[in-house]
Amino acid sequence: MTSILVAVDRRSRQPLYRQIYERVRSRVLRGELRPGELVPSTRELSRELGVSRIPVLNAYEQLLAEGYFESRAGAGTWVSSSLAGGRPATPKPRGERRVSKHAAALPPYQRPVWAENLGPFQVGQPDLHRFPIRTWARLVARYTRNMRVRALQYGDALGLPELREAIAAYARRSRGVRCEAGQVVILSGSQQALDLATRVLLDDGDAAWVEEPGYWLVHHVLKAAGCRASPVPVDAQGLDVAAGEELCRRARAAFVAPSHQYPLGVTMSAARRMQLLAWAQRAGAWIVEDDYDSEYRYDSMPIASLQGMDANGRVIYAGTFSKVMFPSLRLGYLIVPSDLVERFAAMRRAIDLCPPNLTQAVMAEFIAEGHFARHIRRMRPVYASRRRVLVEAVEREFGGSAQLVGDEAGMHVALLLECDDVRLAAAAGRRGIQVSPLSASYTGPPARRGFVLGFGNAAESRIAPAVRLLRNLTAA
Ligand SMILES: Cc1ncc(COP(=O)(O)O)c(C=O)c1O
Repeated sequence: MTSILVAVDRRSRQPLYRQIYERVRSRVLRGELRPGELVPSTRELSRELGVSRIPVLNAYEQLLAEGYFESRAGAGTWVSSSLAGGRPATPKPRGERRVSKHAAALPPYQRPVWAENLGPFQVGQPDLHRFPIRTWARLVARYTRNMRVRALQYGDALGLPELREAIAAYARRSRGVRCEAGQVVILSGSQQALDLATRVLLDDGDAAWVEEPGYWLVHHVLKAAGCRASPVPVDAQGLDVAAGEELCRRARAAFVAPSHQYPLGVTMSAARRMQLLAWAQRAGAWIVEDDYDSEYRYDSMPIASLQGMDANGRVIYAGTFSKVMFPSLRLGYLIVPSDLVERFAAMRRAIDLCPPNLTQAVMAEFIAEGHFARHIRRMRPVYASRRRVLVEAVEREFGGSAQLVGDEAGMHVALLLECDDVRLAAAAGRRGIQVSPLSASYTGPPARRGFVLGFGNAAESRIAPAVRLLRNLTAA
């Protein structure tokens, strides 16, 4: 019989039965307890561990219920023989189990690495340590203390009026968006915004231009809706509209990030903006403008949005609080042409009745009391300084052998470098540095290679050593 001696910690807040269950289970999963091996009786184990029999009985019951253990009266208890390879056999599903072709087409889901690791240069991360969490907590507490019964009810599918007003005023003032509060649709972030825009504007089988290289999650949105992403190259001026017309004349929409393209960081030129707007008007197509990180611009005033240049109501503007507040807030918005508001509302209600009241109300107060503007103002020099340290470190370490692009705005830059970027990014990851390989942002053969470096959450003191390590890896 196998001994399954597992240490228990009586001072732990975790119940004893749970400790025994988890430790035995992980020994089974690691293959230390093999399929078919007999385990001690509950009486024996409780004696060995010096605990009462009840937690052992409860742990065994759970292990039996989940299929890690088997038992028969008179024969004892053993590790399930069906656990080939140390993994529990899941119950065999019966009947046809077909999922939609759209769901099947999505790439496998993987838990994001940043759930555990916040090292430099993870993209898309603001500096969360500097978020005024106490102020936020105070506003949450104040709001919940005074909350009325009405606030517990379903709200308007388009969002809380106060927040829609605040967003419209902010977008007009800081992003040059032409809008009224009635055009604002509150959502859980730009991802949901892109999804809603796709559902309202495109049909199954329709094609849409996407930037190449581009933001991979736009592809997922289109796939999930059964639409076709048509990659259009991005050059130093942004999405190449003429190339788009050649590659896919019948596109019904274009998804672009003109303020600070992901991943190259290009700002779309005025000429290209005009060309894109003219194309949309001519083709009867829509433009979805993803304005995800344009609050921070370093050498000039923020560039006004594409939406603000549009005289024909062809642009749907998507904004998010993920970068200026924090990503887990899950608040973003669409600003849609007035004549489409009702259809967006109807579709938004079909997928999710309304946005959560609490976060919207607190966000509205956070803005109204000036904390939002203050936070952005405080963060601007922080990011500007990190970006300067990063640019200097790249110049020092790479000299002319690599080119840095997209450093005028936002919280990431692209380091162009001929190398096996996928392999090197994995090697950097093993050393605690999360760079994204540029080639992975291409759907076709990558025209450029290198790394996307997010500096939003990179402590200044860690930037230069991380760039040195990256240089050493690329030189090896
Ligand atoms: C191009 C782009 N759009 C949007 C987002 C933000 O998504 P969300 O607002 O859903 O958090 C990101 C985040 O990294 C991004 O890189």
